[in-house]
Amino acid sequence: MPAAHLPGMDYERPLFFRVMQYAARADRDVVGMVSGNPDWEPPAALRDGLRAYADADPEAFQYPPSEGLTKLRAEIAERRGVDVDRVIVTNGTGEANYLAMASALDRGAGDEILLTDPVYPYYPGKTELLGGTQRYVPADEDGQLDPAAVRERASEDTAAILVNTPNNPTGAVYDEATMRDLVAIAEANDALLLSDEVYDHFDYSGRFASALGVDSEHRIVTNAFSKSMAITGFRVGYAVFPEELVDAAKTRHMLVNVAGSRPAQQAVLTALQETDPAYYEANRELMAERVETFTAALDDAGAEYTTPDGGFYVLARFEDFPGTLANVERLIDEAGVAGMPGDAFGTAREDWLRFALVTPRVEEAADRLAEFFG
Ligand SMILES: Cc1ncc(COP(=O)(O)O)c(C=O)c1O
Repeated sequence: MPAAHLPGMDYERPLFFRVMQYAARADRDVVGMVSGNPDWEPPAALRDGLRAYADADPEAFQYPPSEGLTKLRAEIAERRGVDVDRVIVTNGTGEANYLAMASALDRGAGDEILLTDPVYPYYPGKTELLGGTQRYVPADEDGQLDPAAVRERASEDTAAILVNTPNNPTGAVYDEATMRDLVAIAEANDALLLSDEVYDHFDYSGRFASALGVDSEHRIVTNAFSKSMAITGFRVGYAVFPEELVDAAKTRHMLVNVAGSRPAQQAVLTALQETDPAYYEANRELMAERVETFTAALDDAGAEYTTPDGGFYVLARFEDFPGTLANVERLIDEAGVAGMPGDAFGTAREDWLRFALVTPRVEEAADRLAEFFG
């Protein structure tokens, strides 16, 4: 069956594009809060690196090592405190998650991927694509994951427990004790903890704890520069694998991609080496301010909402206005604000709408919502 017809694949791709297209065709000005594309500048060194690359010798335009530029892998390994051999540079977090899930299913230790509800829609899609089965653990009202609930649902069928912290769409950040428990549950069930940490630079709580902090052969961490450097179009990410699984993952990466983009990797390497921590701090502060502005205005609109501890998104609920596609389209037409339907993220937030705060117009958007619902 073609992948596009698998149930999980009906999720984000068509819906996401459908909402964006609907908003673009609208007969009025619309504040776009659908996608997670940063609206701020990348590091200056990234632009410099890219410019310099244009004048490099033709040799620099040929295949890089399949697992990623050696210097970039070394830089990542050093920053993350891991052995360089375990690092694979991927086509964004998207590919890193795909490789991680494939590894877990290929181990022959279960065919089930434990996911959270709400869920980032590509996870069920990839699970289906890879022939795995899905099982869900509900997150609590704040988006937190109770390790006891995960423990209860994990079994010998579990190939992987897949989590995302800071979380899309809930904004939850899992603390160190939770991450330790999740790794222990993976170990106890001969499964892998897969931790997608693509929003790690956007922790407003100070409680974010990478799964890399828990030493184990039963965890894979995925990440990218997509959000931290505001370059979702560059497609440079990475995965840190356990020693015993890394070679098979490198092979899969090579057979699927041959290699990643060399100019993009080189520009990211330059930016990593030359960017002051103040760059990342400023963007985190900008997002934290937007969270405050948007949620304060949601108060005026009488909405219920989650205050994110991290990431780019706010979930909001308006009375008698469930998070369906029809209502999303109504908000575009009648309020001039485009969000995502909560029912795209599983069953737990069907009554909610998700708004991405990667626009300078968050206050205007919230005012429009207040007016519409007021
Ligand atoms: C939770 C999560 N994982 C992965 C991705 C994809 O990241 P990348 O662009 O690095 O592939 C996104 C993008 O929004 C995301 O929200």
